[in-house]
Amino acid sequence: MEPGSFYVAFAPLQGYTDCVYRKAHSEVAGGVTEYYTPFVRIEGGELRRKDLRDIDMARNEGVPTVPQVIARDGDEFARLCDAVETAGWRRIDLNMGCPFPMQVKAGRGSGLMVHEERVAAMGEEMRRRKEMRFSVKMRLGQEDAGECMRLLPVVDEMPLEHVVLHPRLGKQQYKGELDREAFERFMAECHHPVVYNGDLLTMADVEGVMARWPKLKGVMLGRGLLARPWLLGGGEPQVVVGEMHRRIYDYASSVLQGDSQILARLHAFWEYQTPLLDKKQYKAIMKSGSLRNYRAAIAALGWC
Ligand SMILES: Cc1cc2nc3c(=O)[nH]c(=O)nc-3n(C[C@H](O)[C@H](O)[C@H](O)COP(=O)(O)O)c2cc1C
Repeated sequence: MEPGSFYVAFAPLQGYTDCVYRKAHSEVAGGVTEYYTPFVRIEGGELRRKDLRDIDMARNEGVPTVPQVIARDGDEFARLCDAVETAGWRRIDLNMGCPFPMQVKAGRGSGLMVHEERVAAMGEEMRRRKEMRFSVKMRLGQEDAGECMRLLPVVDEMPLEHVVLHPRLGKQQYKGELDREAFERFMAECHHPVVYNGDLLTMADVEGVMARWPKLKGVMLGRGLLARPWLLGGGEPQVVVGEMHRRIYDYASSVLQGDSQILARLHAFWEYQTPLLDKKQYKAIMKSGSLRNYRAAIAALGWC
């Protein structure tokens, strides 16, 4: 399978793939068609400043970015669309898959999937915004896989570039069996192009799903790409990770304040980065309580 012959997205991962990480990955590793931002949300009636900073145009310059929003109803969705549009974007992804209990209980993420009329209102809002392009990222459902099929007529009515589908239920969170048959049923009926997301860890995994479902528009990778950022671009693993680390380190140490804030950002970079580290190295990095110890742990790697 030719690289570049199908769509490849870097999944949004709250706490990991912020604009600094996305930029570092796109400049150093590459191989990704589009990067999705972690969801922009309304909290206590306000848009979070942190989210708006992450989708600031200047901070995402040169990176093909898709801002993602999470909303409970048409009004909330409209407010979020306004904010994203005002920031200068013409592309929005709607999150209908987040399984975090707080979001689900509030009727957002996978908790939105049973509210067909609210999803329909969001579709209406999308149709009104003719200059914007939309996609949806969803699961099979929150409680059962029938939910995505019941919602399908509403999804079909939405003006979408594609649907990203993760074949798990919200109640499974990110573990447990993937229901590939349910994925297939949805894809067979859906009028939009479909992108597969879930547990793709190697190029063989990616090629496997593309071969199994030739109708797929492409794939979205999350944790697999966090662990192996070189996977799609094909660079030398230690060079890619070392160079990405340098950029994230420069950002953290110049913009963030205090050892604990800086270390938290750096630890997030290494958390999934286990393929290149043995247990001792991983522990030395993650348990470094000061920047001094952190720098020593990184220097001890000998390649970073
Ligand atoms: C820590 C974490 C944070 C996530 N944050 C988001 C998010 O902000 N928006 C979203 O749509 N999905 C989010 N996801 C889900 C991922 O985008 C992806 O759908 C999921 O990890 C399955 O893909 P993977 O097996 O390739 O990782 C998150 C997942 C994890 C583990």
